Amino acid sequence: MTRSTGFATRAIHHAYDPLENDGALTPPLHLTSTFTFETAEIGGELFAGERAGHIYSRISNPTCDLLEQRIAVLEGAEAGLALSSGMGAITAVLWTLLSPGDEVIVDKTLYGCTFAFMRHGLAKWGVKITHVDMTDPENLHAAVSDKTRVVYFETPANPNMRLVDIAASAEIAHSVGATVVVDNTYASPYLTRPIEHGADIVLHSATKYLGGHGDVVAGLVVGTAEQIAEIRLVGMKDMTGAVMAPFNAMLILRGLKTLNLRLDRHCASAKVVADFLEAHPAVDAVYFPGLMSFAQHDVAQRQMSQPGAMIAFEIKSGLSGGIEFMNRLNMIQRAVSLGDAETLIQHPASMTHSTYTPEERAEHGISDGLIRLSVGLEDVEDILADLEQALPYPARSAA
Ligand SMILES: Cc1ncc(COP(=O)(O)O)c(C=O)c1O
Repeated sequence: MTRSTGFATRAIHHAYDPLENDGALTPPLHLTSTFTFETAEIGGELFAGERAGHIYSRISNPTCDLLEQRIAVLEGAEAGLALSSGMGAITAVLWTLLSPGDEVIVDKTLYGCTFAFMRHGLAKWGVKITHVDMTDPENLHAAVSDKTRVVYFETPANPNMRLVDIAASAEIAHSVGATVVVDNTYASPYLTRPIEHGADIVLHSATKYLGGHGDVVAGLVVGTAEQIAEIRLVGMKDMTGAVMAPFNAMLILRGLKTLNLRLDRHCASAKVVADFLEAHPAVDAVYFPGLMSFAQHDVAQRQMSQPGAMIAFEIKSGLSGGIEFMNRLNMIQRAVSLGDAETLIQHPASMTHSTYTPEERAEHGISDGLIRLSVGLEDVEDILADLEQALPYPARSAA
C-alpha cells in the first residue's frame, strides 16, 4: 500500500536516499562547474537530450536538482528550477514566455523591482504591459483579450497585503489561453499552493521564508516539466544566466526542512501582534489577512491555510511620527526583506520610497505613516514590548 506523506516529511526526505550517497544523512554539496563524460558518444547523447545527466552547472547541478525536486513536490507541480535570486526567477520566466507584440496583464500592486523590470525590460522589448487592479476579478475580465499571453500577480502583495483570488483569476486568464504566473513569496507553499487553485507557474524569492535565515539570495520556479525545461534552456541558460550556486541550494534545502515549524510560529505571533496593533490608539489601520476587519478575509480563508506573518499598519503621526517610531525601536531591526528569524520593519516613506513625492507615494498606496512588519521568531512578548515602547502613545494606561 502506498501512502502519501505530509508536507514536513516531503520537505525533509523527498528525492534523497542516504544509502545511494555513502550513507550521508545530509545531501552532498556538488561544487563543480562541469561534468565529465565517460565517452564522447555519451557526451553527444547528453547534448542531444537523448540521455539524462549533467553537462555544465549553468544548465543543471545535482544539489540544485534536489532542491528543484523538493520545491516542485511542495508546490504540487511537475518540475522546479533553481535561480540566482527572485528577480532572476521573474526575468527568466517572463523572457521565456513573452515575445514582442504580446501583452502581459499585471496586478497594479507589484514588488518594486518587478515593476521596474516590466517598465525598463519588457516594455522596451515591445511587450505591452497592462496594469489592472486584480483584487476585483471583474477588472481582469474586462482587460483580457487574445493578445494576452501572461497574467501575473503576487498574493499577498506589498504594501497592504491585498490578495488576488487565484481561482477566479486563473479561470478568466485561461478563457483567452493566457498563462498564469503567481509570485508566492509572501505565503510560501506551506500557506498557499497556487497550482491547486489553477495557476500555471509559481515563483519565489527563496531569499525570504524558504531560506528563512537571512543568509542567502535565491529564486525558485515551478510548473509543468515542459514549461520548466523551456525556462531552463531559454530564460536561465541563454537569456539571463541567473543560475543558483550549489552552496545556496544547500542553504535553501536546509531552510525547507523547518519551513512549516517556522511558519506556524511566525503566523501565531503575527496574529497576536496584529491584534495588539489594531487595539492601539496610535494606529489608524492594520492590514493583515487574519483580522476580521481585513477587506478580503474571505479570499484569505479560501486560499491560505494561515494568514501569513506580514503586517502593514498606518500610524496616525505621519512621516515625522513614523521616523521617530522607527528610531525608537531596540530589538526589531530596521531592514528590508522578510521571512527571517529576526523581526524586520520598514517605513517606506522614509526608507524605500523616500525619493518619491508624497503624491507619487499616494499613487502607489503608500501613506506617510505606513509601516511594514515581518514578524520574526523571537518571543512574541518581546516583539510587543519593543513596539509598545516605540509607538507614540502607550496602549494601556500605566495605572
Ligand atoms: C514579492 C517579491 N518578489 C520578488 C522579490 C525579488 O527577490 P530577490 O530579492 O530574491 O531577487 C522580492 C524581494 O523583496 C519580493 O518581495
